[in-house]
Amino acid sequence: MSTDLEARAREILRANDRGGYTVPTSSGLYPAQWNWDSCLVALGFAQYDMNRAWQEVETLFSGQWRNGMVPSILFHGDDSTYFPNTAIWQCREQVPSSGITQPAVAATVVRYLAERTPDARERLGALLPKLLASHRWFHAARDPDGSGLVSIIHPWESGMDNSPVWDAALADVPPGPSVAHLRKDTGFAAAAVRPTGPEYDRYINLVVTFRDAGYDPEAVWRTAPLLVADIGFNAILQRANHDLLHLLRQAGDTDCAAEVAGMIDRADAALEARWSEPDGIYTSWNTKRGIPIEKPGIGCLLPLYADPQAASRHPALVERLRRWLGQVKYGVPSFEPGRPEFEPLRYWRGPVWLVVNWMLIDGLRRNGQPDLAQRILADSLELVGTHGFGEYFDPLTGNALGGPEFSWTAAMYLFLNSLKEDV
Ligand code: GLC
Repeated sequence: MSTDLEARAREILRANDRGGYTVPTSSGLYPAQWNWDSCLVALGFAQYDMNRAWQEVETLFSGQWRNGMVPSILFHGDDSTYFPNTAIWQCREQVPSSGITQPAVAATVVRYLAERTPDARERLGALLPKLLASHRWFHAARDPDGSGLVSIIHPWESGMDNSPVWDAALADVPPGPSVAHLRKDTGFAAAAVRPTGPEYDRYINLVVTFRDAGYDPEAVWRTAPLLVADIGFNAILQRANHDLLHLLRQAGDTDCAAEVAGMIDRADAALEARWSEPDGIYTSWNTKRGIPIEKPGIGCLLPLYADPQAASRHPALVERLRRWLGQVKYGVPSFEPGRPEFEPLRYWRGPVWLVVNWMLIDGLRRNGQPDLAQRILADSLELVGTHGFGEYFDPLTGNALGGPEFSWTAAMYLFLNSLKEDV
């Protein structure tokens, strides 16, 4: 039997459904299909409408670029209320889109759907080559030197847009002309909880740089003013590599499985090289400058999601997370509390996001840390129960922030509820 809140979550997903894909919120803040939002929303749909869950991912892959990249945004409809829209991106692919990507959660989600669909052969068979193409693209286009870690070229690719992890690398990007008068986001949400003006100018200047390079991966890699091997982004990709490998093995595709196993081996070694013993955390890497980024964003904890041995190899990582949780009412803050950069209201500089909570819950369970997983699960459900389906939440008070009636928060509520029994 579903509770009132579960019914409400389904209503939100229904209201945000645009026919085959879901907008992140109906408030107007994000009027298109976002890549990792859609994949994670599919986990919510999967709790009551498996067909619709598959469809969400299939629609996303209808916009995959010919070179394998899955864009961060697909503009299926009117994009006039969004900036930067197709007029700025100017990508020449079948489905109008952005020209950058987002965290690679798709293979993980597809595995989840396939394992719960009685006869998934046809749908899986259609998606598997597309997933493989996207993983090949990641490794070739974003790690052309074969370091084992892929680099992002825009903070938006990380999905954690304004995390302090990007501050220094973003400061190296020329600001370009001011775009304050073109922004639409601050018309839908308070400026205090959105990225700042100087950050936004640089975000857009990066877009213009890639557009001017014709989105050619080699030219982009050569000219990108920002290249960061983010730990969170790589951990999410590594987890997806494992899930893709599993799906390929099941399909009996030994050659492709061996290829993905090779990606996994290289990434394992490179991720492990980013463990910093004195800091007790993984650190990201500024590829452009060749220096580490010693800013503890939540992505630095995500090797727990990629690797079931991470906690036993590095007990300090789990201790670090425990300390974070000891400093807030609701976990998990998106940046280490107590640091000068920590801002409990501003987007990815402190607030709690349920999608990342799920990754940590899942990772902690696989790492034999059910108690911590339970704390985060209980916090997540209570946040929604007490404060509603906001985009993100203040870790100190629990207040809902950003856009209202958010699809991925509704989806996570449904999905996390299904995990309560698995403890
Ligand atoms: C913001 C978030 C990003 C998300 C998008 C749509 O840009 O930082 O992670 O995908 O909104 O919800």
